Amino acid sequence: MCEGCIPMPAVVIVGAQWGDEGKGKATDILGSRVDYVVKFNGGNNAGHTVVIGDQKYALHLLPSGILSPGCVPVIGNGVVVDLKVLFEEIDGLNERGIDTSKLVISANAHVIADYNRTMDKVAERFLGSRKIGTTGRGIGPTYADKMNRLGIRVQDLFDEKILRQKVEGALELKNQILTKIYNRRAVEVDEIVEELLSYVDRLRPMVADTPLLLHEALAADKTVLLEAGQATLLDVDHGTYPFVTSSSATTGGACTGSGIAPTEITRVIGIVKAYATRVGEGPFPTELFDDDGERLRKNGAEFGTTTGRPRRCGWYDAPIARYAARINGVTDFVLTKLDVLTGWDRIPVCVAYDVDGERVDEMPMTQTGFHHAKPVYEYFEGWHEDISAARTFEDLPQAAQTYVLELEKISGARISTIGVGPDREQSIERFDLL
Ligand code: GDP
Ligand code: IMO
Ligand code: MG
Repeated sequence: MCEGCIPMPAVVIVGAQWGDEGKGKATDILGSRVDYVVKFNGGNNAGHTVVIGDQKYALHLLPSGILSPGCVPVIGNGVVVDLKVLFEEIDGLNERGIDTSKLVISANAHVIADYNRTMDKVAERFLGSRKIGTTGRGIGPTYADKMNRLGIRVQDLFDEKILRQKVEGALELKNQILTKIYNRRAVEVDEIVEELLSYVDRLRPMVADTPLLLHEALAADKTVLLEAGQATLLDVDHGTYPFVTSSSATTGGACTGSGIAPTEITRVIGIVKAYATRVGEGPFPTELFDDDGERLRKNGAEFGTTTGRPRRCGWYDAPIARYAARINGVTDFVLTKLDVLTGWDRIPVCVAYDVDGERVDEMPMTQTGFHHAKPVYEYFEGWHEDISAARTFEDLPQAAQTYVLELEKISGARISTIGVGPDREQSIERFDLL
């Protein structure tokens, strides 16, 4: 970069709750303004729905930037890749006229082998009532292999001898566990190697040293958007452990999962829903079990993009938003799905918790504390007008404006964009995101 030049930004998008906040839509909106979109964590456990006019796309493994013709989509080293799903998703998009030829995949990304999917499913069954409610895509076992130094990386597929050795190493213990503990058949090394090798020819041209590529892009004043899968409370370190996913879904993970240094990041955009949802097991203080919950689910179409499971629904939880703001260094929030709250006379917002009779203003330190946390609500006036056509803040009814401004005061960062519908166009930009 030239001397004295101001570096163009690396911008991070993270989920501020338990996922499904609308990260895909936010990434898509910014896609036309950036040069690269990098997925840095997770795998095909993610499900991002992007609506462009009358077309609806459900993305799982590919970065949402794949839908923006001008930008280069990158699968970073922090991602776990199911190659079958990868090519199915690419083929599906190609059939719909989407060009995927710019896609780049990190040589260091780990591969989800068939035995990882098996391990995921049998482990959940084995856990019984203590299950996590995973997506069953093999995510946890693949990250466990990575940490155990038994993982298979994309680059390993280019050296058959190495690949065979690594698969043998991974299966040595796994086959003992599968046969002796889970009563399943042993997995053959050959069948795994053969399947993985069948993808090599198609894969090879897409693979690159992505940290180097991204470093050079930033040095050439390009803009890089780092897109998280999952969300802060599903992060393996900062989430509601053990009811989390197995990767780093927060800003720290954006660095390790892409090879971009923290000093390059100039903006962190937290995506937060105007209420809250969660899929799978685990604590959720504002969860609703009544008609309001049912209404949020119906109005918000809260059914999983990946597994089709009904999402658990509840009111907005400000301590969680503040927590996400702190952990990620959120500079701007995108508040999504405000339109879903239309039609309530008053809207509760959780401003603190009651933990065993004591008021607690922030996320409790312990798992037990969070399990015991009961929401302390403040109530805001609702609105009944249809807001889906609003394009400026002033277009919103006064009560909706007040709701947004009050959330902003208690959520730890400014609310720069507001979502009023699933379509690309259904957004209100109060402050520029880029
Ligand atoms: P992600 O995993 O964070 O990308 O979110 P999902 O795509 O799984 O879930 C968000 C859902 O809400 C998708 O179906 C989006 O099309 C939809 N959506 C996003 N923003 C808005 C919004 O502002 N209003 C409404 N009604 N729907 C939205
Ligand atoms: P996006 O990117 C919501 C949840 C699962 C389960 C837990 C662990 O669409 O926001 P895993 O299969 O990852 O080991 O499951 O995490 N989960 C998600 N929930 N949105 C997601 O992704 C999720 N990815 C995983 O339901 O509770
Ligand atoms: Mg989702």
